[in-house]
Amino acid sequence: MNAKIAYTAHNTPKKILSNFDLEKIVNTSDDWIQSRTGIKQRYIVENGEASSDISTKIAEQLLMKSKISADEIDLIIVGTVTPDHYTPSTAALVQKNIKANNAWGFDLSAACSGYIFGLETGSNFIRSGQYKNVMVIGVDTMSSILDFQDRDTCVIFGDGGGGAILQPTKERYGIIDSILHMDGNGGDYLIVPAGGSRIPASIDSVKNRSHFIKQDGKTVFKHAVKGMADVSKKILTKNNLSGSDISLFIPHQANKRIIDAAAQKCGIEENKVLINIEKYGNTTAGTIPIAMNEAITENRIKDGDYILLSSFGAGFTWGSMLIRWEMKL
Ligand code: COA
Repeated sequence: MNAKIAYTAHNTPKKILSNFDLEKIVNTSDDWIQSRTGIKQRYIVENGEASSDISTKIAEQLLMKSKISADEIDLIIVGTVTPDHYTPSTAALVQKNIKANNAWGFDLSAACSGYIFGLETGSNFIRSGQYKNVMVIGVDTMSSILDFQDRDTCVIFGDGGGGAILQPTKERYGIIDSILHMDGNGGDYLIVPAGGSRIPASIDSVKNRSHFIKQDGKTVFKHAVKGMADVSKKILTKNNLSGSDISLFIPHQANKRIIDAAAQKCGIEENKVLINIEKYGNTTAGTIPIAMNEAITENRIKDGDYILLSSFGAGFTWGSMLIRWEMKL
């Protein structure tokens, strides 16, 4: 038995922050941001709005589309590095909000790979025969950890997320393979230094702005290009496929230049690569599920298509997932 992505949904906050808005906040320009990253705008939350609010809207859409009752959800996994709180988990807040009375769940911290790692985890509960309906959400409210005085990071990220309900399907359909990696040696290059148990929140941690995300962009860029390109190529080779067999490549949206390099290495034509970074920026665990739901809404995915997902993120974490699409209409 395999697990398939049976239903998808996504949600973003309403408020748009354009590159021109950022020009008024930090020393940057629309021209620099677009040419170096591909981003034109991103969505950000209003004060008081958090990851569980976005996730709950995604979960409600999933229930509505699937016509599954909340009581039938067995497990809720939320991939996020910006939970509402350390505890309770975002998954628990979603469970409460949608009244999924028979579900358990947890948050999964794998940064930009959070959704792929979540799909892998959820799909194994389906494959084992233990569960029939697993909800996987990838969401981040990056504006809550962004330093709007640091132009190296604040222009890149945005808020939003998406999700899916996984259900059983026959072998050779659904999620057919994945290759996932982690290398903690990359930890320092993309990090929120304070606010955890290493440097608990204090007046000093706030004064030093060390509760915000810090990035060595060049080092992350170098590893992301190689990591995402290599793992995407590896999963194709492992499954005796080539780039031309892939109907749609849905990569993590961190930087258009990283995506182009990965697609090129795999021999995937430009028109088969989903790029929506211009609208959303990098929503961390949110990028792949947002892109996947957009692709479905725009009829870019058909039954039987091979879909390739790839991600790279903090940790470092990275991986690829191969899906043979089977949609429930
Ligand atoms: N606006 C204007 N200028 C900026 C800027 C900004 N927001 N940020 C940096 N610059 C300047 C730098 O100061 C530098 O100026 P200098 O040449 O006078 O020193 C110049 O632009 C080039 O900076 P550099 O850091 O070399 O740019 P880059 O081409 O590496 O692009 C990133 C920067 C962050 C876009 C790029 O490194 C990147 O995408 N990294 C990976 C990000 C990522 O994937 N993160 C999430 C993990 S999934």
